[in-house]
Amino acid sequence: MPCEVAARFLILYGSQRGQAQSIAEEIGQQAAEHGFTADISCLSNQHKYNVDHEIRPVVFVVSTTGDVDPPDTAQKFVRKIKNKSLAHDHFSHLRYALLALGDTNYANFCNGGKTIDSRLQQLGAKHFYATGHADDGTGLEVVVDPWIEGLWDALKKLFSSMSTSNQQGTDLRDCTQDNYHKNASGQEKNKSDLEVDLHLLKLSEVDSEKGKTITSDTSDVETLSTALVASLKQSVPTLSESVLNVPALPASYLEVHLEQGSTERSKRLRTTGIDDEQNIAYQPGDAFDILCPNRASEVEELLLRLDLQTQNNCAVQVNLLKNSSKKAAKVPLHIPQNGSLQFILTWCLEIRSTPKKAFVRALADFTQNGSEKRRLLELCSKEGSADYNSFVRDANVCLLDLLRAFPSCLPPLSLLFEHLTKLQPRAYSAASSSLQHPGKVHFVFNVVEFPARPEHPARTGLCTGWLADHVSSILRPLGTVPASEHLGTSALPKVHVRPRPSSTFHLPADPSIPVVMVGPGTGVASFIGFLEQREKEREVNQEATFGETWLFFGCRHKDKDFLFREELERFAHNRILSHLIVCFSRDEPDAAGTLNSPTYVQHNLRLHAKNVASILLKDKGCLYVCGDAKNMAKDVNDTLLEIIGNELQIDKLDAMKIVAGLREEKRYLQDIWS
Ligand code: 2AM
Repeated sequence: MPCEVAARFLILYGSQRGQAQSIAEEIGQQAAEHGFTADISCLSNQHKYNVDHEIRPVVFVVSTTGDVDPPDTAQKFVRKIKNKSLAHDHFSHLRYALLALGDTNYANFCNGGKTIDSRLQQLGAKHFYATGHADDGTGLEVVVDPWIEGLWDALKKLFSSMSTSNQQGTDLRDCTQDNYHKNASGQEKNKSDLEVDLHLLKLSEVDSEKGKTITSDTSDVETLSTALVASLKQSVPTLSESVLNVPALPASYLEVHLEQGSTERSKRLRTTGIDDEQNIAYQPGDAFDILCPNRASEVEELLLRLDLQTQNNCAVQVNLLKNSSKKAAKVPLHIPQNGSLQFILTWCLEIRSTPKKAFVRALADFTQNGSEKRRLLELCSKEGSADYNSFVRDANVCLLDLLRAFPSCLPPLSLLFEHLTKLQPRAYSAASSSLQHPGKVHFVFNVVEFPARPEHPARTGLCTGWLADHVSSILRPLGTVPASEHLGTSALPKVHVRPRPSSTFHLPADPSIPVVMVGPGTGVASFIGFLEQREKEREVNQEATFGETWLFFGCRHKDKDFLFREELERFAHNRILSHLIVCFSRDEPDAAGTLNSPTYVQHNLRLHAKNVASILLKDKGCLYVCGDAKNMAKDVNDTLLEIIGNELQIDKLDAMKIVAGLREEKRYLQDIWS
């Protein structure tokens, strides 16, 4: 414990009916038991303190009058701090904690305390402990008691860091969240094995002449900015570098520009990656990892919900608790030390993932409201399995959805870091050949849509939604001039991609081997690459023998979502494709009244069963299937068994053995996703 002077703090209360005052006095009494000296004053006694130059930590206890107002005794103080002429860093020297009292039966719960809190934050003051919001409607003590219990550890940490504050940068350990919850019901609650410290990015140093704390100007800190680098005196990358250098990811991402989107159905977009300087080495059939951030609005909401919005630019340090309960517990590698909180939530953690039962159980530990807590425990219990499946897993619920549904749940950061997995890049098949487009890669994708449900609002898939937003600014109607021609590539949005080579999903090296490709919808992507490659190979080597090429493609409507129609018709026309077999699942039967016209690719496979069987069984050809795993690939597999069974007059079991053999010989290849 530092010297007595350093362990002195100030309690300021704004009370209307005496509740805030008695809580303040209670804090004052307990302070001595914990080895602190507390000075105490009503906010109206401004001659007794001067927050403008207060170097002692301050604990505010503020109630609310009526719907919105701070108590009368705090009015003068509020007017003073609301003065518009105050500089944005007027209170940058101030380290404080605030306990707000209110009643949820009134609108604007705890508004008195919130008003003071937000204005102090605006003017540069910093929390050393999370704000408590106590509800008279349910009983102030539910929040007040654990809040006071947690205060002592927070103060201890603050004082010990202040005692070393003549080192570079005041290391204000924000133990706020953890301590507060550890004591939320008088028992050890934090089941996390991690300890999370948030370091202020502002550099504070003691001005020996004036003897007071001053703060150097590192304003305008944005995500992982150069200010962070300066203040921490270590090489933390800027945001764009960080995208490349997140420790758990190999630094092999390339930055490519997105060019126009181009399809008829608004949900289908096609992007073009361009990289003029670097040669992107890939083969048709390979995929690319695309690095995409979490949505800014969701990160913001999460920060706000966790009461961490003011700490978004703090550098995060994660350590393993010394008395960690689990032997195998580790600090997750995908959380960079000293990354800013905002950066970590944006680029490192899968905040959209569905919380596993263990996470739900841990969240229950940090849920104050009894019935909410019971519901969470029910969801992760053995008996609650069906409920968990329908309300959480099948509903694609994410952490934010749970926090919205359970307002009294307030987990500490350490819990999130322990349970949220690493934000994964998303893989997209290349829809181009680098022989035809050196240094470029094309992608095609549908925007995944999750309709609104009681559990969450409507939203799009993380990466496809993000890509769609990226390209929507440069989307153009077909046939008009691409935006890039107006703007130049430097003005186009960028993404980071990294080749993810396939070990098997490639054209046979011998072009005379016949191939059957099955790729409805965006499953056609890889085959566009295959065909572009064949087109180029033919150009270069006209003497070579090329085997038959069949493509089975399907979409909903001939005129709306026939992807790559022009290209496919060109391939068929110049015989790169010997057979282009297309079906439309949602068009009316044509004028000829072919009522039984095939709707799905497997129906066409059946219609061409003889050819397909002959290519696979006699000519030693290859079958490629690309696209939806859940339904299409299964149905195509069943059809293949049927075709082979009929052709060889064998039963299903024997047909399965033949198909297994084809797989082993790498002549039946799948690139499928769900
Ligand atoms: P649908 O959406 O009309 O059902 C590309 O998505 C195409 O694949 C669409 O025409 C889609 O039809 C179709 N599709 C859907 N389920 C399928 C399945 N089980 N087998 C083959 N194609 C399928």
